Amino acid sequence: MPLVTGSSILDAARAGGYGVGAFNTNNMEITQAILEAAEATRSPVLVAVSEGGLKYGGKTLIDMVIGMGREATVPVCLHLDHGSSFESCLRTIRMGFTSVMIDKSHEDEATNIAETKRVVEAAHAVGVTVEAEIGRLGGVEEHVVVAEEDAILTKPEEAERFMAGSGADYLAIAIGTSHGANKGKGRPYIDHKRIREIAALLPNPLVMHGASGVPAELVARLNAAGGDLKDASGIHEDDVREAVKHGIAKINTDTDLRLAMTVAVREVLGAKPKEFDPRKILGPARDLMRQVIEERMHVFGSAGQG
Ligand code: 13P
Repeated sequence: MPLVTGSSILDAARAGGYGVGAFNTNNMEITQAILEAAEATRSPVLVAVSEGGLKYGGKTLIDMVIGMGREATVPVCLHLDHGSSFESCLRTIRMGFTSVMIDKSHEDEATNIAETKRVVEAAHAVGVTVEAEIGRLGGVEEHVVVAEEDAILTKPEEAERFMAGSGADYLAIAIGTSHGANKGKGRPYIDHKRIREIAALLPNPLVMHGASGVPAELVARLNAAGGDLKDASGIHEDDVREAVKHGIAKINTDTDLRLAMTVAVREVLGAKPKEFDPRKILGPARDLMRQVIEERMHVFGSAGQG
C-alpha cells in the first residue's frame, strides 16, 4: 500500500493509548528488519532517516526504503528525523517522505515557532505532516534542583503556545531522555508528571526521543565479543509503558538497533574467522535487529494495531 503520513498513524495511536516506534535506518538490512518486525507483529511503523543517514545512503537509500515500504501490508510512514532546515525538509518531501521533523529546538521560542510554521505550511500543502521539538534533550540526574530541570525540560505552557503558533502535528518533548547508549546512572530519570501536564493541554501525539532500552544483555554480549561500551544505560520498559499511557505516541529508537547489529556482526566474525560471505555476516545482524524491534513493538503496544 502507499506510504501514509505520520499523523494518520500517530493520531490513532494517541487516541487509542498506544505508542508506535520510529526506527532509524541507514541500509537494506536495517530496513528489512524494521518492516519484517512490523509485518510479524501487525504493527504500524515509522521508518526514520536522519540527515546523516541521507548523506550516507543518498537518494538510492530513500528509493529503496520507499519501494520496500510500499510492499508492506501494515501502515508505513517514511519520516525525516531531526531536519535542520526548511530546505532539508522540502528536499526530503520531494523525495517521497511522508513526515518531516523540523528541529529548531536550539533557537529561541519565537524563531522556533516561525521556522516550524514555515515548514508546516509547505508540508501541509502537499499532504505531509510535521514533527517539531521544544526543550533540550540531554538527560537529567534524578535530584537536580527544579530550576535547572525547568531550564532544559519542556514547559507545559510553552508547549501549548508553541503548538498554537506553529501548527505542528506532533511534538517532541524533553522529559529527561537523551540520545545514545549512556542515558544516565542507574535507571535514567523520566519526568512522568511533566508528560501528564503537557498531554492535558495538548491533544497532539507527543514524541519521546532517546527512548532506546540499551538492554544489559546486549551490552554484555557486545563487550564479551570484543566491544568496549562502558556505563551503558537506557530507558526502562516500564517507563516507556507509563509514558505511552500519558500521551507519548511516537517512540524513537536508533541505539538499540546499532547495538544489535554490532553484537551479531562481532559474534559471527569472532566465532567464524573463515567466514567472508557478507550474507552470513549481515543476515544474523538483521535477525537480531528484527527480534529487538519486535520486542519493542510489544512494549509500545503497537502490535496488533496495523
Ligand atoms: P536512541 O539513541 O535512544 O535510540 O534515540 C534515537 C532518537 O531519538 C532518534 O531521534
